[in-house]
Amino acid sequence: MTGDGLPLFQFVDRIGLNFFALLTIGFALHAALGVVERDAFKGLRLHVLIAGAGLVLFVALRLAILIAQMGDGSNFFDTELLPLAWMGLGSSTLLVIVGVIGATSGVWFGSRIAAALGAIALGAGFGLTGHSQGLADPGLAPLMVATHVVIAGFWVAAPFSLYPSSTLDDASLLARVHRFSVFAIAAIPILIALGIWLAWILAGGIEKLFSTTYGLLLLAKLATGVIAMGLGAINKQFITAKIAAAPATGRMWLRTTLLLEATLFTAAIIAVSAATTIGGPSE
Ligand code: HEM
Repeated sequence: MTGDGLPLFQFVDRIGLNFFALLTIGFALHAALGVVERDAFKGLRLHVLIAGAGLVLFVALRLAILIAQMGDGSNFFDTELLPLAWMGLGSSTLLVIVGVIGATSGVWFGSRIAAALGAIALGAGFGLTGHSQGLADPGLAPLMVATHVVIAGFWVAAPFSLYPSSTLDDASLLARVHRFSVFAIAAIPILIALGIWLAWILAGGIEKLFSTTYGLLLLAKLATGVIAMGLGAINKQFITAKIAAAPATGRMWLRTTLLLEATLFTAAIIAVSAATTIGGPSE
């Protein structure tokens, strides 16, 4: 690959990294917080393993892309540049590896504490990279990015954990949706508020939000977040009642809203991946 293809490669890598990081965080938190009942952890094992393996792959690629960017744009394995690249991405990469070990071993061995610590380590890995680190005075911004990503992970894994599969009877499904909503009702408004605050800080004010590519990408993200929050409220208010009253119809409605949510989350992940690779504050 020549240097010209690197920005696109970096963008694709960031989509993969964000997608698998959010799923690994989400599956770990659904186990740690009891959204998924303990005797159903077996079903989560394969999910968290695939998500964790995907994340490690894309994090390794991120390091290789940085080496190529520092070098001639085509040598991804230049060992002489590795120490320099590690200075930039080393701590974040180590936190991701610790996080994946915590998340997968927590789900596999039924340790909610290990799963929770794994999710927190993965969130912290995001706080150590990204534009918040480029601020003249980062202050609380890196911690806010980490908290934002941990809540986003909890939310993005919902279409998987709440999917009305045939192995999940109506009572267990309703209990799971209820347990998820108990946390979501407080966490999701916090995610959106943190996102708006970060967008305002990183874009450099309201005017820049509406006049830069970076700002418009974040506004697109805000739109997907608000619509997805609306769908979540519909799930909680109407669909749970429908599942109790008419399970077949209720389950079909839930499948539909979860599919719509998954589509919106994919759009949000693509938007933030573009905002943190192709575009940047003031562009
Ligand atoms: C739909 C739910 C959402 C998901 C899945 C999501 C996901 C993410 C992820 C993964 C990051 C870390 C990116 C990185 O550091 O590489 C991030 C950062 C960020 N998010 Fe969200 N987010 C969501 C909603 C929102 C909302 C509603 C806003 C409000 C405008 C927002 C604004 C931001 C900002 C400003 C950053 C920092 C970007 C940077 O470092 O340049 N997010 N988000």
